[in-house]
Amino acid sequence: MDLFDLSGRTAVVTGGSRGIGLMIARGLLSAGATVVLSSRKADACEQARTDLLADGTGADRVRAVPADLSREDECLRLAAVVGEHIDRVHVLVNNAGATWRAPLAEFPASAWDKVVDLNLKSPFFLTRAFLPLLEADGTADDPARVINIGSIDGLRVPSVPNYSYSASKAAVHHLTRVLAAELGPRHVTVNAVAPGPFETKMMAATLEARGEEIAAASPLGRIGRPDDMAGVAVFLASRAGSYVTGAVIPVDGGISTTC
Ligand SMILES: NC(=O)c1ccc[n+]([C@@H]2O[C@H](COP(=O)([O-])OP(=O)(O)OC[C@H]3O[C@@H](n4cnc5c(N)ncnc54)[C@H](OP(=O)(O)O)[C@@H]3O)[C@@H](O)[C@H]2O)c1
Repeated sequence: MDLFDLSGRTAVVTGGSRGIGLMIARGLLSAGATVVLSSRKADACEQARTDLLADGTGADRVRAVPADLSREDECLRLAAVVGEHIDRVHVLVNNAGATWRAPLAEFPASAWDKVVDLNLKSPFFLTRAFLPLLEADGTADDPARVINIGSIDGLRVPSVPNYSYSASKAAVHHLTRVLAAELGPRHVTVNAVAPGPFETKMMAATLEARGEEIAAASPLGRIGRPDDMAGVAVFLASRAGSYVTGAVIPVDGGISTTC
C-alpha cells in the first residue's frame, strides 16, 4: 500500500476548516502527510485541529494558518508563512469556495466579484505563489500536485440560479488543463475534482429540502461521503496518481455523466 503513502510529505488545504476541505485534510493525514489548513476564521481552523486530535488522525501533523484567500496579498502571505517553516510542499489543494444564488433579474454584481475572486482567481494566485515550494518537491518520477476543487455545476447546467458559481467552476476546470500543460514539464501535476452533492454547510439548505430526491435520482442512490472525497485526494496526491494530469474527475455517484 505504499502506493498511497504520504509519509514525510506536506499538503496545504485551503478551506480545510470544515466540509470538503476537512474531509480531504483528514484523508491526507491518514495517509501520513503533514497538513496545513487555511481558512479565514482562526477559531474555525483551531476547532478543526481539535476535531482531528479527538479522532486521532495525526493532529500533531496539522498546522493552521488563517487567511482571506479571496485576496491575492493573502495568497502570497500564506505561501510566505508556510515557506518560513518548510522548504517544500508536495500537494496544494485549492478547495476554499463560495456560492451565491439569486434569480436572474436580481443577481448582483457583488455576487460575481465575491465568487470569482475566491473560486477562480484564488486557485491561480495560490498555485503561482506556491510554485517555488512545489517545484522544490517535484521530480519527473514523482511530481508535486495541485488539486483544484471544481463542481459538477461546472460540467453540466445546474438546476439552481447560481450563475457566477457554475461559470467559475467551469472556468477552474479549464484553468486546470491550461496549468497542467504549462507545469507538467516543471514536474507539477494539476488536476481538478468535480464533486457532486456532499453534506456541508454550503449544501445544507439544498440537502435538507431535496436531499432524498437528489440521492434517489443518482445512479448510486446516495449523497457523497467523507471517504469518497478523501479517497480521490489521496489517489491524486500519492504515487498512485503520478501519471495523471489535466484531468477533471467527477466524484458524484454518476450524476454528471448519466443524469
Ligand atoms: N458540498 C458540495 O456538495 C460541493 C459540491 C461541489 C463542489 N463543492 C466545492 O467544494 C469546495 C468546498 O465546499 P464546501 O461544501 O465544503 O463548503 P463550506 O462547507 O462552505 O466550506 C468552505 C470552506 O472555505 C473557507 N472559506 C470561505 N471563504 C474563504 C476565504 N475568503 N478565504 C479562505 N477560506 C475561505 C471556509 O472557512 P471560513 O469561513 O473560515 O473562511 C470553509 O473552510 C468549494 O470549492 C465548493 O464549491 C462542494
